[in-house]
Amino acid sequence: MAVPVREWSNWAAGYGVPRIMLNLQARRGDPLSRLLTIDRNPVGDLYPLIEQVRDRGRMSPVEKVGWVTADARIIREILRDSRFRTIKVRDRSPFRIVKAIMAKTAPDVPNPLEPPSMLVSDPPEHTRLRHPVSRSFTPRALGALRGRIHEITDELLSGLEGSARCDLVAEYTTQLPIAIIVEMLAVPRDDTRYLLAISEATTKLIGISAPSWRDFRAAIHALRDFDDYLGRHIERLRRDDVDNSILSDVVNNSDLTEVEIRLLAGLLLGAGFITTTHVLGKAVVALVRHPDQLVALRANPEGWANAVEEILRYDTTGQLAARVATEDVDVHGYPVKAGDSIFLLVGGANRDPGVFEHPNTFDVARANARDHITFSTGVHSCLGAALARMELQIGLQSLFEHFPELALAGEPRFNGSIGLHGLTHLPVSLGATRAAVS
Ligand code: HEM
Repeated sequence: MAVPVREWSNWAAGYGVPRIMLNLQARRGDPLSRLLTIDRNPVGDLYPLIEQVRDRGRMSPVEKVGWVTADARIIREILRDSRFRTIKVRDRSPFRIVKAIMAKTAPDVPNPLEPPSMLVSDPPEHTRLRHPVSRSFTPRALGALRGRIHEITDELLSGLEGSARCDLVAEYTTQLPIAIIVEMLAVPRDDTRYLLAISEATTKLIGISAPSWRDFRAAIHALRDFDDYLGRHIERLRRDDVDNSILSDVVNNSDLTEVEIRLLAGLLLGAGFITTTHVLGKAVVALVRHPDQLVALRANPEGWANAVEEILRYDTTGQLAARVATEDVDVHGYPVKAGDSIFLLVGGANRDPGVFEHPNTFDVARANARDHITFSTGVHSCLGAALARMELQIGLQSLFEHFPELALAGEPRFNGSIGLHGLTHLPVSLGATRAAVS
């Protein structure tokens, strides 16, 4: 098959060359490069590498790029500081020539990592893009969904009865959040399989620092197809006057353009299940590996709300965020220059010993578990945090109450993503149901 020169040049400039550089630095043992290349050099446990970054100081320089930090206070402050903007694709290289090549060869497809995606837009544009959907995600607006999350959870768990073993990612941790978000957006539930395939392809662009040419190309194709799919969905909402979708109001009453609506719909769909799926999967692993914590939760089911905060703190999916300084800023004595990028190791902030006592201990009763920044902070703080919390609590509590003997039946397999760190497979034996045990 002929290689499309434009796309290849874009990949080579923005991803291919950084990929070679990162591989070299990773081979020399640089901890940040090792974290950024976990898709091709898997590491069993990310946290020792994050500690190596922390050991270098509250902020440490990254050659030609800027800085990296795992310091909770600094990360929190940067995320809330309007002198730092979100990172764009053009920031992938400090060199003007590379930026020019990237701009000239950018694939002509809406991309969640490019404006006008809310995720990478800055105020005041960001406010305009977020406002039309923000009221659909308040805890109050979501209250009515609680019963529906219970129904879907029960349906999925009943479907698992009778299987001695299963892959919990395929059968449960993806199915629950996706079923909820498709319903909220009035997307047909039958499209789940398609959406999972799209998310698998695009995660390689979004969650991996420098994807291979093959993965880049597959992601661009998937984004193109997804854009058409979203166009058809939005047209259906308009034509059929569907009123049970949180998008209906945006489609009919907001001043957003067609491209902005498609990107918003795509972001809600993707963000609405990919992250929650990963947290659910990693939570199951953490809980079964700490049976004493499950015993405590069985004795005190009221503790589940705090357990969810500890789960979010202990092993987050968004291990990495990044911001760019728009002016020179003194960050606790570190001279950040305008244009510097800063890698924010969110998973490291959540294990900062200055905030969390014994940070590597998984303790569902931890008093300040909620001080994590897994949902970010500042203007881009997660829109779906209340929804995610509800899904995690109901999804995990119901799972362990339904299958009290649930155990790992093999090694969980990780996806090699640093930005969306999670599981692709989670083999478990389910054991007897609670009804059978009691
Ligand atoms: C446990 C699950 C989740 C985690 C860990 C998570 C994490 C995050 C984080 C860290 C950000 C900020 C990204 C940045 O600053 O660069 C974010 C933004 C966002 N999240 Fe979530 N999220 C989760 C679930 C959800 C759900 C269920 C939705 C529902 C639709 C959602 C929708 C969004 C949206 C729309 C944004 C963009 C907000 C903005 O840029 O203003 N997320 N999320």
